[in-house]
Amino acid sequence: MDGTQERYTIIQKVLHWLIALAVIGALAAGSLLDFLDNGAFKNQLYALHKATGMLILGLMILRIAARIVFGAPALPIGTPSWQRAAAGVSHFLLYALILAMPIVGWAATSAFPAPIPFFGLFDVPALIGADRDLSKQLFWVHDIMGKVILALIAIHIAAALQHGFSRKDGVLRRMWF
Ligand code: HEM
Ligand code: HEM
Repeated sequence: MDGTQERYTIIQKVLHWLIALAVIGALAAGSLLDFLDNGAFKNQLYALHKATGMLILGLMILRIAARIVFGAPALPIGTPSWQRAAAGVSHFLLYALILAMPIVGWAATSAFPAPIPFFGLFDVPALIGADRDLSKQLFWVHDIMGKVILALIAIHIAAALQHGFSRKDGVLRRMWF
């Protein structure tokens, strides 16, 4: 369906904004964990971070399915080819990294091993067996990926705002309601 509609479908918009909010929350909570002393608040933030991360994984699977089924609207005529390429590469990287990030967090936490409560409803089963060294390496990857995601999101938001308020070419509206 690529290029046959002017905007993203409502399903894609709802998923985009839910995931955007959850990812920004997960980045903030994850980074904050580093600065907190052990205690009840830190434990709750761990639980909230892990549950939000698992929710993002579920939503991302739905979102990728929606992207395959509904495609993306064609960019405005006259969009330079380097911008088409930049948008394509950065969107692909965002999809890939935001899908991989919770899987790495899930594996790292399983290997630690620590529980993954899902908002008090149930415990998510371990993805892999206990292995403290592997857990350390996976958390290192989780940390680096977090920094890359943060940089990509900063560029993404700057580009979206530039389209919306400087170029006013309707690209921001494609993802708005
Ligand atoms: C898109 C989803 C996720 C994002 C954006 C994210 C982001 C982050 C960030 C930025 C940190 C701080 C890294 C550091 O400074 O060392 C962090 C730490 C952590 N994350 Fe995630 N995370 C996600 C999903 C998950 C999931 C699904 C789990 C587990 C089920 C998880 C478990 C953890 C744990 C346990 C830490 C603390 C690691 C430590 O104490 O060194 N994360 N996360
Ligand atoms: C204030 C924050 C944000 C704004 C204003 C914004 C805006 C937009 C807009 C306008 C588009 C459509 C671009 C186009 O038509 O080609 C888009 C697409 C996209 N956004 Fe965001 N976004 C924000 C936050 C985020 C965050 C935090 C993430 C990642 C978690 C994200 C991931 C994506 C992805 C992957 C696409 C590509 C969608 C597709 O082609 O299927 N966005 N965003």
